[in-house]
Amino acid sequence: YVLGIDLGTSAVKALLMNEKGELVDESVRSYSLIHEKVGYSEQHPQDWISSVREAIEEITARFQEDVSNIVGLSYSGQMHGLVLLGDGNEVLRPAILWNDTRTTEQCAQITETVGLENILRITKNRVLEGFTLPKILWVQQHEPEIYRKVKKFLLPKDYLRFAMTGELHMDYSDAAGTLLLDIEKGDWSKEIIAKLGIDPEICPELVPSTYKVGMLTESFASACGLSPATKVYAGGADNACGALGSGVISKGKTMVSIGTSGVMLTFEESKTEDYHGKVHYFNHAITDSYYTMGVTLSAGHSLSWFNDTFAKEESYDELLSEINDIPPGSNGLLFTPYIAGERTPYADSNIRGSFIGIDAIHTKKHFAKAVMEGIVFSLRDTLEIFKSSGKVIEELISIGGGAKNQHWLQMQADIFNATIYKLKNEQGPGIGACMIAAVGSGIFKDFAMAQEACIQIGEKYEPIPENVKKYDELYNIYTQVYRQTKALN
Ligand code: XUL
Repeated sequence: YVLGIDLGTSAVKALLMNEKGELVDESVRSYSLIHEKVGYSEQHPQDWISSVREAIEEITARFQEDVSNIVGLSYSGQMHGLVLLGDGNEVLRPAILWNDTRTTEQCAQITETVGLENILRITKNRVLEGFTLPKILWVQQHEPEIYRKVKKFLLPKDYLRFAMTGELHMDYSDAAGTLLLDIEKGDWSKEIIAKLGIDPEICPELVPSTYKVGMLTESFASACGLSPATKVYAGGADNACGALGSGVISKGKTMVSIGTSGVMLTFEESKTEDYHGKVHYFNHAITDSYYTMGVTLSAGHSLSWFNDTFAKEESYDELLSEINDIPPGSNGLLFTPYIAGERTPYADSNIRGSFIGIDAIHTKKHFAKAVMEGIVFSLRDTLEIFKSSGKVIEELISIGGGAKNQHWLQMQADIFNATIYKLKNEQGPGIGACMIAAVGSGIFKDFAMAQEACIQIGEKYEPIPENVKKYDELYNIYTQVYRQTKALN
């Protein structure tokens, strides 16, 4: 058996997988976000540790066999969050998370000091508030007394791993989201570090996702009921693990995930494609592989906002119950999901969303459907970037909340004009973490074998030509809304 630990933004999920690739148990523990000011989003790293301990304990308490049969564990983690450690590896301040937007000024400084062309050449990404480097500069400028004590920085799951093993590392797939990784050289960028006056010593040792960092400490093992001989593998960024868990491990494979945020992600064989920073370009959890992705900041979040504010239905099933009675295009009602700014393709944290084309005949159901359509249009923006680079994307795996409703799945097929598959045993990035532990510990020879054992393709949705035509027309209008409404904020 192996354990996969998915350290998310609102909760941690632990999954237990057997050597056949079947998930046999799971447990979840939630923790809270701290929003001290508008735009701030932080968490106490200690909450992650206690939640993980409890989640594993729940699984080991139910486990009928000897716990030494759980041979390995690994991680998937929320990306970009900054954890700062002092001399004795103590946490110096709460972690600043990926969805914290306080660093607009630092982003401008980085772009100016290093130069956008240099940043793109070295990291293949443009500078965004969510990434780690601007957060480091923010602490340097706003909390110099804390910054002076910094001996290492880590990302969330790396800190969790440190707390469980006593070893300090960062894996490449997560390091790729710091804006400090030189993707060509596969090492920390001396140039960026020097230009911004950062001490290179604060950067941890880089390792591959399947690297065995060590074993559990005696105290953590006994606190959660695992054997101290359990081997711990480095793990990966949640999007890399989500890609593993949906079979995006070879050329041509693409996935779309509609959760709180939305992601469209495709496999990249090389580190040399050039998207000019329009999409994120990150190292995969598979050595020498990469992926590119676009992010819709408020995907499921737009729907939950609409329901909480206006519809007030008991559940999503209720909200989406008669969605199919409304024709594609919601009788002329169009929504743009920029309710908290947008990442891809605009990288604009100030833009805001809109409903346009409101008619007196529109009902709550029209609005709900227009929100769903707007979310998928926004993900199509990323698909168009991929296509304009010459990629042919004719099928996608759909995961997340958006894959739980058959009408939403059909809508994705129609708006993307592609075949959409859902998975039978979808468990998000947690499965990817299990796959890393299973490959690391030799249960599967490689990720291709892990994929065969762990991933089962389910239902398929084909595009309906008349809907494709309708949505093409609407998408054309959708793409104009950003420019026309940009001045509103
Ligand atoms: C990716 C990103 C989010 C977080 C969520 O760039 O910011 O998807 O990884 O955990």
